[in-house]
Amino acid sequence: MIKTKIAGVGYYVPEQVITNQDLEQQMDTSNEWIVKRSGIEERRWVRDGICTSDLAFEASKKAMKAAKVSSEDIDLVIVGTITSDYFFPGVSAQLQDRLNLHHIGAFDVKAACSAFIYALSIGDQFIRTGVCSTILIVGAEVQSKFLNISTEGRDMTVLFGDGSGAAILQKSDDESGILSTHLHCQGANIKDLWMEAPGSAENCQMTNIKLEEGRHFPLMNGREVFRNAIVRFPEVIQESLDASGLTLDDVNLIIPHQANLRISQAVAKRLGVGMDKVFSNIHKYGNTTAASIPIALCEAVEEKKISKGDVVVLASFGAGFTWASAAIRW
Ligand code: UT7
Repeated sequence: MIKTKIAGVGYYVPEQVITNQDLEQQMDTSNEWIVKRSGIEERRWVRDGICTSDLAFEASKKAMKAAKVSSEDIDLVIVGTITSDYFFPGVSAQLQDRLNLHHIGAFDVKAACSAFIYALSIGDQFIRTGVCSTILIVGAEVQSKFLNISTEGRDMTVLFGDGSGAAILQKSDDESGILSTHLHCQGANIKDLWMEAPGSAENCQMTNIKLEEGRHFPLMNGREVFRNAIVRFPEVIQESLDASGLTLDDVNLIIPHQANLRISQAVAKRLGVGMDKVFSNIHKYGNTTAASIPIALCEAVEEKKISKGDVVVLASFGAGFTWASAAIRW
């Protein structure tokens, strides 16, 4: 059976570090609260003038270099993001232009924290069916420009960061590759984690009323998200193992979406695995939504936590609610 391999990965984060102490100056919060509740110590936020396509471009160049592919080789681009530079079109179109790619297909996936695994799953189908030979997938976000940086928005603002990660997908020529992917959604919960405006539900114009009510800021029912996340993560990880005929003993590393250290710890406990098997870098970057899994994957590779032949499971949960997993033999 044809398998899709990850031929190269790359990530890029903006250089500006925002510590918890920096946030203490801007709102009623504390380093102690943030670390205790989330495990986050700092995050990266872009400086003025930098947007999501800039981050996506940098991560893509690194992934292409790692995979030793050039612009001519790529025949599809998929970008996961909820923070595109413009309301439309998507970041994928800007990336197609900036990377000087052929007039290939390019589209965005708006599956929030699950978008990178959604993109991976879509790319996997195109490779396995032989329609494409080299696909660029990206997760990139500039969330800092959308946040309510005040005490009113502190529950969200302290958690989120900016960043990007990318991967090149190609046909595998050995046993390595994506073993299975699993995508889920429970739309009944959209209002538990969302940004309402601008949108077509009402008149799209940003009226004063909408702005005064803060309907253009992301909102989250943190406890409800947490409660669902700690159930869905283990469930979808197990689903990927069952589909691949594997057990947790076969898994070398789980890379969960980096939403909250307490969520990862609860997931590890429910699965009965130690935290040494669960990758975490949330202390450095916070929650970077679609970028979190590819950044974590890159760092796991850099830190030599993944070796040839290892089984790696990616898993996500976030807005939608969406959740997803991918089992990969490296
Ligand atoms: O990637 C998308 C997926 N997102 C997630 O997975 C996030 C899931 N949820 C969470 O991680 C947690 O629910 C949070 C970290 C968001 C919040 O932790 P919590 O333990 O659920 O706290 P809470 O929302 O119940 O708030 C506890 C208290 C409240 O004060 P009162 O009502 O007890 O007086 C909040 O107003 O903490 C207050 N609070 C803050 N205090 C200082 C909320 N945000 C902050 C803050 N600094 N930044």
